[in-house]
Amino acid sequence: MLGRGHFPYQLSWLIDNPMRRLLVTPEQLANRLPLMESSVILEVGPGSGYFSVELARRVPRGRLELLDLQPEMLAKAKRKLLAGGFQNVGFTTQDASSPLPYEDETFDIVVMVAVLGEVSSAEKCLRELLRVVRLGGVLVVHEHMPDPDRIPLSELRLLIEECGYMFRERSGPLWNYTATFERPIDG
Ligand SMILES: C[S@@+](CC[C@H](N)C(=O)[O-])C[C@H]1O[C@@H](n2cnc3c(N)ncnc32)[C@H](O)[C@@H]1O
Repeated sequence: MLGRGHFPYQLSWLIDNPMRRLLVTPEQLANRLPLMESSVILEVGPGSGYFSVELARRVPRGRLELLDLQPEMLAKAKRKLLAGGFQNVGFTTQDASSPLPYEDETFDIVVMVAVLGEVSSAEKCLRELLRVVRLGGVLVVHEHMPDPDRIPLSELRLLIEECGYMFRERSGPLWNYTATFERPIDG
C-alpha cells in the first residue's frame, strides 16, 4: 500500500479502518479458507492483525502463526489477540523471503492479504512457503484495490504456478479477489 516498500506501522489505522469491511470482512476471508477446528495456519504479513483475530477464533484446537517484518505491527496484532484471550498464536518477526523458522510441511494453510507485492523477492518467499505447507495444503492470497502494490490475478497465477503450486479457485471480483492455490500431493 502507498507505493513500493512495506506499509509503515505508523499508518496501521488505515488498514484497521472499519470502512475496509466494504471490501472484505475477516469473516468473509475466513469462510473462503478450507478451515477445520484443528487447522494449523501461517499468516504472512498480518500487519496489525485485522484478519488474525477471526483466524484464531476459527482454529480452537489448532494454531495460528503470525510472521511480519515489522515488530511494531506484530505488537499491535498481539494486543488484539491477547485481548481476545487466544493462547494458540505464535509471533515471529522476520522477512518472509528469508529461510523461515518452521519445519517442512508444518502448515495446512498459508494466508497473505495485501502482502506479496511488498515482498522484495516474491519468488524466494513463495518457494519457502511451498516448503512449509503440507502436501495437499493451500496458499491463499487476497489482493484488493486501492493497494498500489496489488498484484493482478493473471500475474499472480504465473508467479505462483511457476513455483509449483496448482491454481484451485478464485472468489470475488478481479479488483478484490481471493485466490487459492494447492501444493500438489504428488508435487
Ligand atoms: C499492507 S500491510 C497488510 C497487513 C494485513 N495483511 C492486512 O491486510 O490488514 C502489509 C504487511 O506485510 C508486511 N510485510 C511486507 N513485506 C514483508 C516481508 N518481506 N516479510 C514479512 N512481512 C512483510 C508489512 O510489514 C505489513 O505489516
